[in-house]
Amino acid sequence: MANPSPTPDTPATHDLVVIGAGPGGYVAAIRGAQLGLDVAIVEKEPTLGGTCLRVGCIPSKALLESSEQYHHAAHGLAVHGVRVDAPTLDLDAMMARKDAVVAANTDGVAFLMKKNGVTRYAGTGRLTAPGEVAVDGEDGTTTLAAEHVLLATGSRPASLPGVEVDGTVVVDSTGALAFDAVPKRLAVIGAGYIGLELGSVWSRLGSDVTVLEYADRILPGMDASLAKQARTTFTKQGLTFRLGARVTGVTRKGRGTTRRAVVSVEGGEDVEAERVLLATGRTPNTEGLGLDAVGVATDDRGRIEVDDRFATNVPGVYAIGDVIHGPMLAHKAEEDGVAAVEGIVTGVAHVDYDLVPGVVYTDPEIATVGASEEALKAAGTDYVKGSFPYQANGRARALEATGGKVTILAHNETDRILGVHVIGAHAGDLIAEAVAAMTYGASAEDLARTVHAHPTLSETLKEAALAVHDRALHV
Ligand code: NAI
Repeated sequence: MANPSPTPDTPATHDLVVIGAGPGGYVAAIRGAQLGLDVAIVEKEPTLGGTCLRVGCIPSKALLESSEQYHHAAHGLAVHGVRVDAPTLDLDAMMARKDAVVAANTDGVAFLMKKNGVTRYAGTGRLTAPGEVAVDGEDGTTTLAAEHVLLATGSRPASLPGVEVDGTVVVDSTGALAFDAVPKRLAVIGAGYIGLELGSVWSRLGSDVTVLEYADRILPGMDASLAKQARTTFTKQGLTFRLGARVTGVTRKGRGTTRRAVVSVEGGEDVEAERVLLATGRTPNTEGLGLDAVGVATDDRGRIEVDDRFATNVPGVYAIGDVIHGPMLAHKAEEDGVAAVEGIVTGVAHVDYDLVPGVVYTDPEIATVGASEEALKAAGTDYVKGSFPYQANGRARALEATGGKVTILAHNETDRILGVHVIGAHAGDLIAEAVAAMTYGASAEDLARTVHAHPTLSETLKEAALAVHDRALHV
């Protein structure tokens, strides 16, 4: 039971204290409340929602949508027989809309905490002993006692030696969501999720964008043929890619309006740009959490070690989301959060990291779940592949969105679906069907025999499933 008026001698007591109110932490708090626990949540930022809602997924999607509308108004309407004068950009209004979208979401989380009776503590939480959390806030330190403590502190942009993020010329993803003007030239370090999404935003708004990627391909880790098609499409859209380009440092030149950055690339030409976006991955937020004080074990990459019920080596201390292993994605953190709390209450917790979809919200979107073709080859798996182009889908033609493809990889003997890779309009929504099918162990035949509404983009999935058995109907 909660102790509503803690003193230094009598800490506030809760069944579960969650540190961090991102998608992992706040969802875990809701699930805990649903299961009858007395839950508290500790957050150091003035608004709830974590990186994703405040400076990540949500504001980037707002800007992706706005910049796409701008680009579409300039280039995508004439084909529909709609003639308009060249649109002009009101960047302040675009940013204000983004801020309003963020506020609606963060306010929504505050409402959900209230609705579920979750007690909110403002300040930075740290473990002081097993079952004890100190919250360092504006008015001093509050001590909380709880049988269960869940660490959900997320991650921050990774640093790169030789590159100092100053928030103006050289920025991380947070800075690139709030430029006060469209940079003439933007250098992006890293062709991963963030580099491609925010590179696309500023390219659509008029920046000359060069993406420098250390690997010999974009989106390392994703299916290679998908990534290749994506690169061809983004290049046509005006993005310049330099692959095999390892950035070793950034220096600054000039002042005021002539101020710019010089990006050094190992063994290659420097790149000069007004702004530089560093997007080379993320690092778990574990500093200052009291892990050493309490003896919570971390791995060689600084992530908190947990067992399959999200329990750390210290009894009563659990961890989820970006501070543990697995993909650093909001929806993975949410699943972790629900499973961890259910594990605390019921003893059963499970999330299948092989079935976590990944979506890049560019145009076209890129969405993937399960094994890539390279992974299947490397594992020596006997697989078959079926692909279907958006070009042959009636709805895609009507939408003027024919640039896309669905690929399904299935086991050659069992026909079980092993991986689905989509590039094309609404790929991020289409992938949900693939995730559901794979969650229930569907075969390509199962998907092929599922009735899909016509005309919809979802028919491309059905056709790709048919193509696994060489019987696609519309190619
Ligand atoms: P990322 O891991 O997706 O990509 C980083 C890229 O930087 C890699 O391609 C890597 O090879 C490259 N790189 C590393 N060092 C380099 C160097 N010295 N020079 C040039 N290139 C270098 O990381 P990103 O894009 O920063 O995203 C961080 C995290 O945020 C990811 O784990 C991602 O899962 C998540 N995220 C997810 C989004 C989504 O779900 N749509 C959107 C944005 C981020």
